[in-house]
Amino acid sequence: MIIDKLKRPVRDLRISVTDKCNFRCHYCMPEEIFGHKYEFLSKDKILTFEETIRLVKLFVQLGVHKIRITGGEPLLRQELDVLVKMLSSVSGIADIALTTNGYFLKEKAETLRNAGLKRLTISLDTLDPQLFKKTVGRQLELHRVLAGIEQAVELGFSPIKINTVLQRDVNDKEILKLADFAKNNGHIIRFIEYMDVGNLNGWRMDHVVPAQEIIEVISSKWSIEPIDKNYKGEVANRYRYVDGSGEFGIIASVTQPFCGDCTRARLSADGKIYTCLFASTGFDIMTPMREGASENKLFEILQSLWLERSDRYSEERLSFPDTSSERKVEMYQIGG
Ligand code: GTP
Ligand code: 5AD
Ligand code: SF4
Ligand code: SF4
Repeated sequence: MIIDKLKRPVRDLRISVTDKCNFRCHYCMPEEIFGHKYEFLSKDKILTFEETIRLVKLFVQLGVHKIRITGGEPLLRQELDVLVKMLSSVSGIADIALTTNGYFLKEKAETLRNAGLKRLTISLDTLDPQLFKKTVGRQLELHRVLAGIEQAVELGFSPIKINTVLQRDVNDKEILKLADFAKNNGHIIRFIEYMDVGNLNGWRMDHVVPAQEIIEVISSKWSIEPIDKNYKGEVANRYRYVDGSGEFGIIASVTQPFCGDCTRARLSADGKIYTCLFASTGFDIMTPMREGASENKLFEILQSLWLERSDRYSEERLSFPDTSSERKVEMYQIGG
C-alpha cells in the first residue's frame, strides 16, 4: 500500500465517463457558457472502456477497491452497462457506485443493475417542479427523476442516496420537505454545503448553508443523534432519527473539511488524473498510454503522482478564504 505526503492511501477512484450533461445547473454548467454551440469532447478524446479498465487495474495495485462513476451525466455515455460489467470482473474491486442526475434512470437502471452496479446516488436539489426547472436550467420534468428513483428502488438499489446541494435563498427553505421525502421512502439524503468547485459559478461564502444550521432545522422537527461513519474517509457526517425512521447525512466540506482522510483519486473522461477536486491541472495519462507506454511505466507514473500528493484545498480554504484565485478544474469535467 502506498501513501501520499500526508500519509493518506488511495482507496477510491472516481471515474468521469463523459463531460456532457442534459442539465444546465448554473453552479456547474451555466447555459450562457454551455449553449448550443459549446463543443464537448469528441469521441477520440475520450478514454475507451478498455483504456479505462487498464488504468483501473493499475489503481487496484496501488490500493483502490472502490469505484464511483460520474460525469457530466454518466447515463449519457453510450453502453455504460458494458463498462460496469467490465469493472465488475476486475478482481480487487469491492464496490461500484454511480452518481447521476436521475433523468434517464427509469430506462437505464435495470441494465446497470444486471451489469453489476451496486449503489446509486441521485442528485436532487428540490421537490418543487418549478424550482426544479430553474435549478436544472432547462424546461425538464421533476417527475421523471422521481420515477427513476422509484424504479431503482424496485430493482433493489436500496437504500438510495440523494445528494442535495443547499444554496442560500434558493432551496434552503426545503430542508424539512426533502428530509421528510427521504425518510418516508427509505432513502438516505445528504445535504451538501455548496462548494467553490470550478471557476464559473460565482461562489460566495454567503451562498453556503452551514452544517450547523442544517442540523438546527432538522432538530426543530425531529429528534436526531450523530452516528459513526461507515468507513474512514466517508465524506458525509451521519445522523439517525431517534425514532428509528432512518438516517441522513451532511457533507460539510466548507465548514468542516475532511482532507485529512481523503483517499480519492479522480480520472476525467479525457484521461487526466486529478489528485484533488480543486486541482488546477490533471496529469494527462492518456497520451503516454496511446503512445504505447508499458504497464510498468504507467504504474510508475500513477505511483509517483500519489507519492507526491499533498492536496488539502478545503482545509486551506478554511484558513485562507480569500486566496482561492487559481483556476480550478470544472465540476462537469470531474464529477464531484
Ligand atoms: P459514498 O460515501 O461512497 O456514498 O460516496 P460519496 O459521498 O463520496 O460520493 P458522491 O458522489 O455522492 O459525493 C457527495 C458530495 O461530496 C459531492 O458534492 C462531492 O462533490 C463531494 N465530495 C466527494 N468527494 C469529495 C472530496 O474528496 N472532497 C470534497 N471537497 N468534496 C467531495
Ligand atoms: N458544491 C457541492 N456539491 C456540488 N455538486 C455539484 N456542484 C457542487 C458544488 N458546487 C454535487 C452534485 C452531485 C455531486 C457529485 O456533486 O449535485 O450530486
Ligand atoms: Fe449536470 Fe450534475 Fe453539473 Fe447539474 S451538477 S449540470 S446534473 S453534471
Ligand atoms: Fe480531498 Fe481535495 Fe476534497 Fe480535500 S479538497 S477532501 S484533498 S479532494
